[in-house]
Amino acid sequence: MDLNTAQFTSIFHFATEQGRTIVYLQYANVVICLGFFLTVAWFLTFAVIKFRHRTGDGEPQQYEGDTKLEIFWTVVPALIFIGLAVATGIVMCIVNPPAGKRQPDITVIGHQYWWEYRYPKSGVVTANELFLPLGADLMLEIKGADVIHSFWVPDFGQKMDAIPGHPNNLFLKPIREGLFLGQCAEYCGSQHSLMRIMANVVSPKEFETWIKSQSKVPAPPTDKISQHGEELFMSKTCVQCHAIGGTKATARVAPDLTHIADRKTIGAGVIANNLENLTQWIMDPQQFKPGSYMPNMRLTKSEAHDIAYYLENLK
Ligand code: CUA
Repeated sequence: MDLNTAQFTSIFHFATEQGRTIVYLQYANVVICLGFFLTVAWFLTFAVIKFRHRTGDGEPQQYEGDTKLEIFWTVVPALIFIGLAVATGIVMCIVNPPAGKRQPDITVIGHQYWWEYRYPKSGVVTANELFLPLGADLMLEIKGADVIHSFWVPDFGQKMDAIPGHPNNLFLKPIREGLFLGQCAEYCGSQHSLMRIMANVVSPKEFETWIKSQSKVPAPPTDKISQHGEELFMSKTCVQCHAIGGTKATARVAPDLTHIADRKTIGAGVIANNLENLTQWIMDPQQFKPGSYMPNMRLTKSEAHDIAYYLENLK
């Protein structure tokens, strides 16, 4: 997988307007709390040094309570924390506005152990590698198919849990192009750590091109190997779980493979997508992703090769 173009993952790199708002709130928090800490630490240090015990000192002067001072150091921190709470509330309203009747631009579904992305306006369905247009105001609907997952691309800001039966909304307005890496952020089973997200923010024009290419149904195979591969795909168990546009494969249990050849990786970021790797993957997915729900179908190497060859020519 060519991750060299990917940016180092950090919430501080914010690639969305929402991420930026959250990071600015975080900076304000840190600056205010640090200021508070330094002020208190300074007074404490000052008092410890200035009023330290010296030889010949008798019993120190005794104080009992100072109403003014006590009101001051109760009210000032209270005001600071109320200020921070209000700022946090405002940021929450900006980042998570009410969705109302708005329809999602993309539906994200967490599965054990991969991500499904649906673009309802165009009907495109893909997996693991997400495409977003720069500058668009997007609403993503985050769902879970089996257990609770969490969709998290640190550069985009907040995490959003993918809960079965309880869709959540995630609002994103991408402000930077690039490939941003993410990861399922809620423990969901043995392959939780290999449930990666590759989010590509591209120009609106590139996005249109991508949507158009994904909407196209691949041409039926014309060469012998691909035809044999398709035949095997449709007659072995593959067809029970996967969908391929324009064929009788319509199952939605596992990733849609209509345009698998366009993807950079197999198995949600586990290995690079090429003929050799895909052949090995089909022969035994467990060698790369133990616990993956794709079974070993006990195909011969030549059968796996022909299926992989067919899939790698789906464009
Ligand atoms: Cu899906 Cu952790």
